[in-house]
Amino acid sequence: MISVDQIKDCVKNEMVIFEERFKESLKSDVALLDKITLYVIKRQGKQMRPMFVFLTAKALNNNQVSDSTYTAASMIELLHTATLVHDDVVDDSNERRGFFSVNALWKNKIAVLVGDYLLSRGLLLSVDKNEFRLLQIVSTAVKEMSEGELLQIEKARKLDITEEVYFDIIRQKTASLIASCCAAGAASVTNDEATIAKLKRFGELVGLAFQIKDDIFDYGDGDKIGKPTGNDIRERKMTLPLIYALKTGSEEIRRELINIVKNHNEEGKHIKRAIQLVVDSGGVKYAYDKMIVIKNEALALLDDLADSEAKTALIGLVEYTVYRDK
Ligand code: IPE
Ligand code: IPE
Ligand code: MG
Ligand code: MG
Repeated sequence: MISVDQIKDCVKNEMVIFEERFKESLKSDVALLDKITLYVIKRQGKQMRPMFVFLTAKALNNNQVSDSTYTAASMIELLHTATLVHDDVVDDSNERRGFFSVNALWKNKIAVLVGDYLLSRGLLLSVDKNEFRLLQIVSTAVKEMSEGELLQIEKARKLDITEEVYFDIIRQKTASLIASCCAAGAASVTNDEATIAKLKRFGELVGLAFQIKDDIFDYGDGDKIGKPTGNDIRERKMTLPLIYALKTGSEEIRRELINIVKNHNEEGKHIKRAIQLVVDSGGVKYAYDKMIVIKNEALALLDDLADSEAKTALIGLVEYTVYRDK
């Protein structure tokens, strides 16, 4: 299998230009905003979304990107960053990328406004460049992400989630943005709507696998991934491992799990116990297997793409999505 370094190597030149543009697009005359956005940029994430944008474009277009590809990559990473800043407010989480989250340092008020600022700068990039198609693709994802997060909150209140609803939630809150990476990457080099739609579906499947992986992390070791674990149970988020445990466990286990999620979700000792019950029930294993099936479904959509270095790297990035350790 191709290594992460080899994947990065394939988009090295594009990422250098991207980072310059990304930084440039955040500048503000408001000193406090500048300070916070600088803090955010320094704690750079894995940058998987811009990589998906570039690799999709290159795999479709003889290894070449266009100016629109750069616009798409910056837009999407800005929107992604905005949603993380907001998400940590919503999830009341104080750690992100191994450091304090914006809300932990500057409080919720400021984090909400900074998130709005990042969101508007992201959308404005397409307006400034007259990129209507990109604006269309990306703002659809933004709309879906908000809907997904709200659906998730609704379900956390009622605790009546099914596997089907779980997939609806993650398709909206996470997969929609990765779908937009691949759709926008494609749209930046071709006008062929069938190709754009196919790559969008590919990105959506990758995004589903991506969020299942993230949900599995929550049952793992927080030191390695740079954000807290056990947070989903604390927030009463019913993710796939827990849904499985509730569906297949004995009445006794079901009752204990529901009781923890409902009444003891703020207590570390109980969260640990719930994690143990879910792992012992095979819930994590079940989620893992599902993730692999979906990943393979995504890869199959690339079958009729001509072989190239970019295609190999794109396949590698999909594999990395499920085998990554942070
Ligand atoms: C985190 O995304 C948010 C989810 C959709 C689970 P990433 O894991 O890509 O975050 P960074 O950008 O690398 O920190
Ligand atoms: C991803 O869900 C939410 C977004 C789409 C931003 P999570 O709430 O699980 O993401 P993390 O684990 O905080 O990164
Ligand atoms: Mg969160
Ligand atoms: Mg998570």
